[in-house]
Amino acid sequence: MLRRAKVAVLVSGGGTNLQALIDAEREGIIKSGSISLVVSNKPGVFALERAECAGIPAKVINKKECQSSLEFEAKLIELLDSEGIELIVLAGFMCILSESFTTHYKDRIINVHPSLIPSFCGEGFYGLRVHEAALSYGVKVSGATVHFVNEIPDGGRIIMQKAVEVKEGDTPELLQRRIMEEAEWKILPMSCELVCSEIVKNA
Ligand code: GAR
Repeated sequence: MLRRAKVAVLVSGGGTNLQALIDAEREGIIKSGSISLVVSNKPGVFALERAECAGIPAKVINKKECQSSLEFEAKLIELLDSEGIELIVLAGFMCILSESFTTHYKDRIINVHPSLIPSFCGEGFYGLRVHEAALSYGVKVSGATVHFVNEIPDGGRIIMQKAVEVKEGDTPELLQRRIMEEAEWKILPMSCELVCSEIVKNA
């Protein structure tokens, strides 16, 4: 049997994308990686309960208690490296990572973004704000993108995208839910498997 790459999932909120990854590993859609660690930058978020239910070690590094982003990232690196993490999946992780962090893990960080990049992305576009912007622009199609993370927010190489129809009468919440169900929860696990399979093949 092939070795599995050690995956850490970074979260900040509800964790539905984390759940999609956990389910995909159970179902064998992710077979080249194993989710070994969940890290939240905030205490008390529901994603931590999802990790606990799945028996995955979960840690909080409270960004608000750090003196600077540098201190937060140093703690994160110490944790990820001590656990031998090979792939970092940002799944609703609402912090922008510095160039020194993304360079340390070059081609080893992926992120899911709830629009078709390069639309409605970059600094300030996160969560519901992305869908509010898409609806106010009046696009008829939106979707999700999984990409590698580099020093440019939402600017790294695209791995997968999936388009989703915008419907008459959509609210940001309705569009968010449809994009999660039809796109994010599918392409994030598939991309995770793709990148993990490359990591174990090249190890
Ligand atoms: C998801 O829609 C994710 O794509 C988005 O936040 C939501 C988190 O939901 N991420 C971003 O906007 C990052 N720029 P979840 O916690 O239920 O996975």
